[in-house]
Amino acid sequence: MLKELVRTCRSYRRFHEDHAIDEQTLRELVDLARLAASGHNVQPLKYLLSWEADKNSLIFPHLTWAAYLKDWPGPASGERPSAYILVLGDTEIRKPFTFDQGIAAQNILLGAREKDLGGCIVAAIDRGGLRQDLGIPERYEILFVLALGKPKEKVVLEVLEPGGDVKYWRDEHGVHHVPKRRLEDIILG
Ligand SMILES: Cc1cc2nc3c(=O)[nH]c(=O)nc-3n(C[C@H](O)[C@H](O)[C@H](O)COP(=O)(O)O)c2cc1C
Repeated sequence: MLKELVRTCRSYRRFHEDHAIDEQTLRELVDLARLAASGHNVQPLKYLLSWEADKNSLIFPHLTWAAYLKDWPGPASGERPSAYILVLGDTEIRKPFTFDQGIAAQNILLGAREKDLGGCIVAAIDRGGLRQDLGIPERYEILFVLALGKPKEKVVLEVLEPGGDVKYWRDEHGVHHVPKRRLEDIILG
């Protein structure tokens, strides 16, 4: 069960944009992040939610998608995320935030997957522009944007041979392929 959830918890970047995600769903996902491990249990992360078209359209232009897919500028209109969770670090609680945001993000994405949704961690963000457009106070560091929606693309895992290329690719049918190292190549002993 968990393995299947983890296996299908891929980075999805094309969505059925007309599939709405409501505020309550986003709150349930943040509740999974709330319960995550935190260094020294300081819990410095805060969240901003977006599930409406107007606010979503303020966020989208500040994101960079799939750096390895050079000819793809990101999801087209109609395939964009229907919701976002911004993961922020509260500098009045602690800085740096180190690893907390990664654990929180994974909890949220696993929760999304369980709800038949999917998403992508986006760290390549025009932070200045996003801060300005959403009026995010300087107190909060913008760590990740989690893009969420009902996936409209198929993602397949491939075996990454030692010395092979880590770059993901999209084939002629639009299927996204992601190479992963083999278990025997990552367990050293
Ligand atoms: C810390 C972090 C930052 C990422 N930033 C971006 C990003 O800015 N844009 C993007 O399209 N994908 C981003 N990704 C998604 C990765 O490209 C993705 O995890 C990787 O290609 C492997 O695919 P998988 O998540 O399906 O295993 C990020 C992932 C992580 C963990």
